[in-house]
Amino acid sequence: MTASPTRTIDRDRLAALSQAEIGRFRVAHPRSAELYERARHSLLDGVPMNWMVEWASPFPLFVDDASGARFRCVDGHEYVDFCLGDTGAMAGHGPAPTIAAVERQMRRGITHMLPTEDAIAAGEELGRRFGLPYWQFTMTATDANRFSIRLARQATGRSKIVVHDHCYHGSVDETFATLDPDGRVVASEGSVGPPVDPALTTRVVPFNDVAALEQALADEDVAAVLVEPALTNVGIVLPEPGYHDALREITRRTGTILIIDETHTICAGPGGMTARDGLEPDMLVIGKTIGGGIPAGTYGMTESVAERVRATMPERTDVGGVGGTLAGYALSLAAIRATLGEVLTDEAFARMIPLAERWEAGVNEVIASRGVPWHVTRLGARAEYHFMPTLPRDGAEQAAHADPALERFLHLFVMNRGVLMTPFHNMALMSPVTMAADVDRHTEVFAEAVDAVVG
Ligand SMILES: Cc1ncc(COP(=O)(O)O)c(C=O)c1O
Repeated sequence: MTASPTRTIDRDRLAALSQAEIGRFRVAHPRSAELYERARHSLLDGVPMNWMVEWASPFPLFVDDASGARFRCVDGHEYVDFCLGDTGAMAGHGPAPTIAAVERQMRRGITHMLPTEDAIAAGEELGRRFGLPYWQFTMTATDANRFSIRLARQATGRSKIVVHDHCYHGSVDETFATLDPDGRVVASEGSVGPPVDPALTTRVVPFNDVAALEQALADEDVAAVLVEPALTNVGIVLPEPGYHDALREITRRTGTILIIDETHTICAGPGGMTARDGLEPDMLVIGKTIGGGIPAGTYGMTESVAERVRATMPERTDVGGVGGTLAGYALSLAAIRATLGEVLTDEAFARMIPLAERWEAGVNEVIASRGVPWHVTRLGARAEYHFMPTLPRDGAEQAAHADPALERFLHLFVMNRGVLMTPFHNMALMSPVTMAADVDRHTEVFAEAVDAVVG
């Protein structure tokens, strides 16, 4: 038994319930099981990408068809999708304007290593949303972060990077660093083949810790602080009042470039937290959803960063470690222009955010009425329940309250009843085509799941 302030979770009961849900999943998914068995002979661990074995189910669902906020697996079951490709499909599956633009562009040339007019429209729209004048495009947010770090090093002539403890910014070497219990920088748990000791490249500060930031930047040898304006990958951790003001003031005072990664926090509004909260990054990164699912990432910069980069750039830059053959390719720019211009619009956010509020209210009501010591955090169109009664202050506090067995049970229980949550945390994301009834369906099955556990 694990003690909690108001209710206890019986671990034997949880294990038995989990086994029953695994059995139920197996019975309902013979075709996915068959495909998974076949896949094990040609794909490492039976999946095209390693994360896909991490779902709560005993084997992954194979998808037959996805449209809007729903998808159907190969066994014919339909799901309300709150994972939305972990933000890659935040615009909904197959948004019509994106499909139309992509189809048109496919017939006119997918990639040519030359610009199209769509690139200008995309840059102008990003400028409108985030307030930065100059943009470059990549295939992924990971690449956009990697290139931003390189440009920041180039512009400042400094080498070190500062990140938040328990951050995630894609598979960027410098960011796979965390604090051990003695406050030393070490490789993040599970980091695969770290190229160098991350303490050589990176300093790590807890989220919301102004004193630690002061200390990390005091020597003026840090090129950039790379942050999500709210942590979203360890679970949502919101900034305390004044934290962003302090971050901006200290980075300015120490000549450090502030890079804000809005890849997930775009859920706060059309211009992410940057526009919503009046943040003033020197550089800004966003990927995933901006192409409506077509690979696309981007980074923007101020006039001053652009000038400094240009002034220090070597003459030949084609093999300079920034760029990619398909980066900024025509198809992705067509997708970005259509997705930002016609799908993830200001009006779409005005629909999505109230849906997340509805999700938050429903889940909070279940939590309160069952007396479990949990709470919901919401950031715009994204919301999540945490297994602790109060808001976490930083990533370590959030991570300390993770409960993988409970989380897997809840995810599998709702999956078995037609609702998909984001794996790795208890997060739900709204798309422009998510319905109030979808939200209510989650509340209903979440209540059943909690009743089964604490019942
Ligand atoms: C905040 C943030 N930045 C960057 C990335 C990397 O995105 P991608 O894997 O598409 O490169 C992620 C991925 O989860 C992310 O959450």
